[in-house]
Amino acid sequence: MSHPRDNSPEALEEFFQSGQDPYKYQTKDHEKRAETYVQLIAQHSGGEFVDRLLDVGCSEGYLTHILSESTNFAIGIDVSETAIKRALKNYEDLVDRGEMDFKCINFLKAGARKKFDVLVMTGVMPFFVDKWDDCLKRIDKLLRKGGLLVMSFVSTGCMTDPWISKLEGKLLERVDSREFTCNSLTHRAHVLRKK
Ligand SMILES: C[S@@+](CC[C@H](N)C(=O)[O-])C[C@H]1O[C@@H](n2cnc3c(N)ncnc32)[C@H](O)[C@@H]1O
Repeated sequence: MSHPRDNSPEALEEFFQSGQDPYKYQTKDHEKRAETYVQLIAQHSGGEFVDRLLDVGCSEGYLTHILSESTNFAIGIDVSETAIKRALKNYEDLVDRGEMDFKCINFLKAGARKKFDVLVMTGVMPFFVDKWDDCLKRIDKLLRKGGLLVMSFVSTGCMTDPWISKLEGKLLERVDSREFTCNSLTHRAHVLRKK
């Protein structure tokens, strides 16, 4: 199984149950992709260490782990319980030390006692295609004023541009965009700042 049969939480759970790392993220190419996000965050955080970061749709935690190296605290959430159990096992020591955490939570229902400085939503936006307003409300609820939203997609044009223009102007302003290649596919990362 190389993709979930659809975007429902049930299909995602079935997909993760089909085997370890079903998206095949544990590769050098994906590590390089993660480093692009790390660089963008550093560049737009004014040289300051990030305090709290939320990685939305974290799968088994590989990206959250790379991002956590330049944050005080990083948490990954995912709708798949299997993915979260694996993330907790993969990074057990860091979780025990309180540097990271993983929770099985649907982003569209997520809340937080304290808002985040950075929200990372990479490879996850297609799951919210027909839930645009709900998604925007969550971003507003979870991201602090002045905080950064990092989004990234495989760059098909049809996906990225309308979404970004819906975000810009309302709640967020775009501060950067960068194109890069991963697994021979062109991706585009965007950094937006909450007004
Ligand atoms: C394509 S993977 C992207 C993984 C990772 N963000 C990355 O960039 O490598 C999408 C992930 O989003 C998760 N996901 C989908 N809908 C979600 C939702 N409503 N709330 C939280 N996670 C969700 C899926 O289970 C899957 O692990």
